[in-house]
Amino acid sequence: MKQTLAQPSRNKTNLIVDSAIFLAFLVAMAPRFSGMAIHEWLGIAFGAAITTHLLLHWQWLVEVTKRFFSKTQWSARINYILNALLFIDITLVIFSGLMISEVALPFVGIQLAQSGSWRGLHGTVANLFLVLVGLHVALHWQWIVNMFKRFVITPFAPRRAPQLGVATPELAQINQLQSVEQLRKET
Ligand code: HEM
Repeated sequence: MKQTLAQPSRNKTNLIVDSAIFLAFLVAMAPRFSGMAIHEWLGIAFGAAITTHLLLHWQWLVEVTKRFFSKTQWSARINYILNALLFIDITLVIFSGLMISEVALPFVGIQLAQSGSWRGLHGTVANLFLVLVGLHVALHWQWIVNMFKRFVITPFAPRRAPQLGVATPELAQINQLQSVEQLRKET
């Protein structure tokens, strides 16, 4: 990708957004910990965020889909397939979640007949999503490490004192004087 001046701030935004999505996902994976209301509204917000994300990047999606069928690297194809699976799976998670909703849909006056199959599907596709996210993180591991080093570790790391033996003009001059002194003593 072409590097521009705007790149660092874009990377920073991506790191913040991705971390927020990841944290929200972790909370959504533990409904007993968060409580049902938070779980359901967070899940619905997740769905809205993904739809907005796709609509905002629609042109990019069209381009990447075209490229998939033309000449491209296999790593790019694997990435594309994994992203498509993530999208299909999260759609199933949210749809099955809505079908078993206990808080959000009754809140807006919709009461669906509860079914064990939707419950089973919801748990299964949520667990599958966890596996897919693991692969997604593994595929982008180098980017994650680089961004953490750049925006999280480096800004808070103490500045290193100048190392001994580093060639500064002053040190070079002192060394030279010491050598001359040494020579004088020896002769
Ligand atoms: C990011 C999206 C979501 C994820 C990752 C997710 C994940 C999960 C997980 C892991 C469970 C526990 C399953 C089990 O114990 O077998 C669960 C339960 C549940 N989820 Fe979700 N969920 C999401 C979205 C939603 C949405 C949008 C709704 C409804 C509006 C919803 C409604 C429920 C309900 C009612 C349960 C309890 C099922 C039971 O008691 O067996 N979820 N969810």
